[in-house]
Amino acid sequence: MIPVNVPLLDGNEKKYLTECIETGWISSEGPFVSRFENEFAAKVGRKYAIAVANGSLALDAAMMALDLEPGSEVIMPSFTIISCAAAIVRAGYVPVVVDADPLTWNMDANQIESRISPRTKAIMVVHIYGLPCDMNAVMAIAHKHGLRVIEDAAEAHGQVCSGQACGSYGDLSVFSFYPNKHVTTGEGGMILTDCDELAEKCLGLRNLCFIPERRFVHEELGWNMRMTNMQAALGVAQLERLDEFVERKRNMGRLYTELLADVPGLQLPLPATKYAHNVYWVYGLVLEEDIEFDAKEAMERLAQRGVGTRPFFWSMHEQPVLRKLGLFEGVHCPVSERLARRGFYVPSGLALTEDQIREVASVVKEVIR
Ligand SMILES: Cc1ncc(COP(=O)(O)O)c(C=O)c1O
Repeated sequence: MIPVNVPLLDGNEKKYLTECIETGWISSEGPFVSRFENEFAAKVGRKYAIAVANGSLALDAAMMALDLEPGSEVIMPSFTIISCAAAIVRAGYVPVVVDADPLTWNMDANQIESRISPRTKAIMVVHIYGLPCDMNAVMAIAHKHGLRVIEDAAEAHGQVCSGQACGSYGDLSVFSFYPNKHVTTGEGGMILTDCDELAEKCLGLRNLCFIPERRFVHEELGWNMRMTNMQAALGVAQLERLDEFVERKRNMGRLYTELLADVPGLQLPLPATKYAHNVYWVYGLVLEEDIEFDAKEAMERLAQRGVGTRPFFWSMHEQPVLRKLGLFEGVHCPVSERLARRGFYVPSGLALTEDQIREVASVVKEVIR
């Protein structure tokens, strides 16, 4: 079986992890945590980076830190992971979805303004599958309407949009370090901001909101979202190789595109837009209408031939858990709904070899025919 993801851990990961064990620094108090934060902040060009236990919690902390009025509306893409909507709902706000662009699979920035109401207070942008959202368009709308921006760059390490790093746009921006990301810590996340006040709030929320004057006294409820020194040790080693990893991903994406370009009925990831070049975080495929089976069937056929796959996201407005809360009644996002049913991605991990890519492409060709 060619697995959908295998990370590359053959740099300084072992050396730094051994250092944690030999020094006894395994908790969040260890020195790799602040080193990882400082180096990550510098890489993205932000004042603060706050390491947390995973990307979903980074979103939770970011939404809580914004401190919007309860019931405030937050505009977000329908085509994304549940962590985005969950963070909005848990913070006491209302998610309002925008459909995806059929080519970039990102939130269609042209549809954002039509969703703005007097209750709208923020936009959550998510960069999808390696191609960023059009941030110039989003930031212009946010400035015009006085909205805060949360930028989910969980899949966009090392990516640039209009010459500016992904993760540098939001009032608060977040990353994930799950093993399929360009930088992994096993599990892990990061919150970035330039704002002193937001950074302070996130630091408090990460660590149970201890008040500085007296430990074990709390004026607010926080969480334990801390990242361990061992996770951060992996992160430091991975970050050393980010540029190489991004280049590797781009080469993998180019090779897949070259091999699959003439397969009829298959939509491939867009190599570039006016504002960004794809980093192919994952290599997604969408079955065009003339293919008579759906993504589920294609994935089963590929599994039978030894190729691992994952389905695309399932739209937020079609999530049973959110519909049960009374959200998204009557909402339709046809592009997002189609991507969810017709899209899946093929093996895309950093350790994937050229031979494996050629094998996957030839199996895809046979299965789709
Ligand atoms: C866009 C996006 N946001 C948030 C997350 C959540 O990150 P984590 O898995 O670290 O909780 C992911 C996960 O992969 C993601 O793809």
